[in-house]
Amino acid sequence: MSGVTAQPRQAPRIGVRLAGTGHCVPDGKITNADFEKLVETSDEWIVQRTGIHERRKCDMDKGESARTLCTKALKRALDDARMEASELDFIILGSVTGEMSCPATACRVGADVGAVGAGALDIIAACSSFVYGLNMAHDMIRSGAIRTAAVLGCDIMSEVMDYTDRGVSILFGDAAGAAIIKATDDTTRGIIASSLHADGSGWKDLYLPRRKRDLPEGVEVPPEKLGYLQMNGREVYKFAVTTFGRLIEETLEKAGIQASDVDQFVCHQSNARILESARTKFGIPESKLHVNIDRYGNCSGGSVPVVLDELRKSGKCQEGEIVLFVAFGGGLTWASSLWRI
Ligand code: COA
Repeated sequence: MSGVTAQPRQAPRIGVRLAGTGHCVPDGKITNADFEKLVETSDEWIVQRTGIHERRKCDMDKGESARTLCTKALKRALDDARMEASELDFIILGSVTGEMSCPATACRVGADVGAVGAGALDIIAACSSFVYGLNMAHDMIRSGAIRTAAVLGCDIMSEVMDYTDRGVSILFGDAAGAAIIKATDDTTRGIIASSLHADGSGWKDLYLPRRKRDLPEGVEVPPEKLGYLQMNGREVYKFAVTTFGRLIEETLEKAGIQASDVDQFVCHQSNARILESARTKFGIPESKLHVNIDRYGNCSGGSVPVVLDELRKSGKCQEGEIVLFVAFGGGLTWASSLWRI
């Protein structure tokens, strides 16, 4: 498999540790019962096919947005790391629903928390965004270019949902999560193996058209529906199930370890059945693969960092443990990051 893959060929001179995490979800909820009133569906259908019971939704009238959720998540991560925002060298924020394309949401979040002068940019790798950002920020620290980074993943999927489309809208929710990573003299800490992959030829299975010219040839979408996420659920399901398994296999193989050596699998929450297929394939106990899709749905870029923060705050993800981050999504993209945190 081609792509950006990494495993240290010689002992690194700089270690990287996870110093703090935080997340933020809006208070507003959409339950399956709410969907039963909006479209022809049922709680039973949604739970059986996806494992989702409810998702969070921003209140635009109250000014909630990618920026406000990210700012709260980052403040919580800084508190957790017992750090001042001024100590951050770099902020990388992964989202498909950032506020504007200029300025990057990361710049305004940096200003909101007081990280004046820290480098800041947004990246887009859909549901894989946080894992892409984590690998990139880690490698910047390990190279010596920076010492401290904030990595954020956030999506306000409610902004791009057609709530009359029952095949798509029942899946997604809003959330933001943040992680602070820092240089350390302990060179056993940081990434053991990682990978970043994409196959743009599969873009038509999951995309967000802004204008008519963005549509695939032969596809018609009424003008008022431009700006809503389009998905071929069956194709994405097939891609996700196969890719998830292959990605875990590839990363473990590169690191020369077994699934049983991993303390926590921090996985993108796209569908409970997809998570379950990986758990069964690799014999992963429930205690090592946290699931929150029942409460939040698929939060795209926000999914992985929210799982990470919930695990850390409940004491299930301790310093020095082996943690495997895995994500896949639109692009199509897929990425992994195996750490001693
Ligand atoms: N309630 C009731 N019926 C629904 C429905 C809903 N919310 N959504 C779709 N259906 C119907 C379809 O119209 C279809 O009816 P038909 O057979 O009369 O045409 C039937 O259910 C089966 O549809 P299908 O799309 O084959 O269902 P599915 O079993 O594949 O489940 C998903 C649909 C979306 C749950 C599933 O494909 C999936 O999870 N895909 C992956 C999505 C994903 O993870 N995306 C993000 C990746 S990061």
